Amino acid sequence: MTVPTVTLNNGVEIPQLGFGVFQVKPADTRRATEVALDVGYRHIDTAEMYGNEAEVGQAVRASGLDRSEVFVTSKLNNNRHAPAAVAEAFDGTLAALDLDYVDLFLVHWPLPTIDVDYVDTWKAMEGLLDTGKVRAIGVSNFQAAHLDRILAEGTVVPAANQIEIHPYLTQDPLRQYDGSHGIATEAWSPIAQGKVLDDPAVTAVAADVGRTAAQVVLRWHIQRGEIVFPKSVTPSRVQENFALFDFELTDDQMAAVTALNRDERTGPDPDTFAYRP
Ligand SMILES: NC(=O)c1ccc[n+]([C@@H]2O[C@H](COP(=O)([O-])OP(=O)(O)OC[C@H]3O[C@@H](n4cnc5c(N)ncnc54)[C@H](OP(=O)(O)O)[C@@H]3O)[C@@H](O)[C@H]2O)c1
Repeated sequence: MTVPTVTLNNGVEIPQLGFGVFQVKPADTRRATEVALDVGYRHIDTAEMYGNEAEVGQAVRASGLDRSEVFVTSKLNNNRHAPAAVAEAFDGTLAALDLDYVDLFLVHWPLPTIDVDYVDTWKAMEGLLDTGKVRAIGVSNFQAAHLDRILAEGTVVPAANQIEIHPYLTQDPLRQYDGSHGIATEAWSPIAQGKVLDDPAVTAVAADVGRTAAQVVLRWHIQRGEIVFPKSVTPSRVQENFALFDFELTDDQMAAVTALNRDERTGPDPDTFAYRP
């Protein structure tokens, strides 16, 4: 199965489908990531916050795949926003992964209410590009107002904005904002951690196309052009979530899923979420 790629604003290509490891216990992460690589995933999404970068790196190195064949994303943790802490945090990520470079490094949350200004954090992120050890930098959970300031005051346009998106939170205005500024949109919790899978509108489309509810929702993201990385520690689901490229949803089926939007988050609100040590 060939996974399409999305070309980021600096020319770097990212596989549109990856594997997420949020809430995968460190002890389970190497095995889960190995299963994903074995199935064919070539894009892993981790973060310092998840505490499992080391095990992701172990799986990538043990796979025997050339480093250039696997796209690895990690994220700046919320307690590392001080500009002077950014390079050290990035070095910590590289050391934990035990890889020579990271493909994409994101500011995990904007934290607009803490005393460090996320624009200053972003300027320190820009400095990481000079190390040659990160291929692209971006943000996560940034709203349009946060991006307005990054675009006005920063030098580098973020390559990606990783935000919560699923049928109950379609985020169309923010997706359009990203798209109109050359920022790729990545969808986290793409199946809302399972909450959308029993929805009658989703199961009706699944019955129509002869696929599972998870496949329908993931395919919906793919057809919207979003980058997704569903998480599962269940090998059969890891396989199921990868089988998205031999069927299509019609415009009506896409619309039926999109119509489920109720602006409902499963995670924190980026405008108010504040890191508490
Ligand atoms: N930037 C951020 O702030 C942020 C926040 C959250 C997530 N993320 C990223 O996004 C990734 C995905 O989001 P997520 O882990 O929150 O949620 P998700 O991928 O939407 O859902 C994961 C949950 O769904 C279950 N599941 C997976 N495939 C399934 C299938 N085919 N059928 C039924 N159930 C299935 C998993 O169970 P089992 O594992 O038990 O199989 C797990 O409980 C994360 O791993 C992380 O990389 C980023």
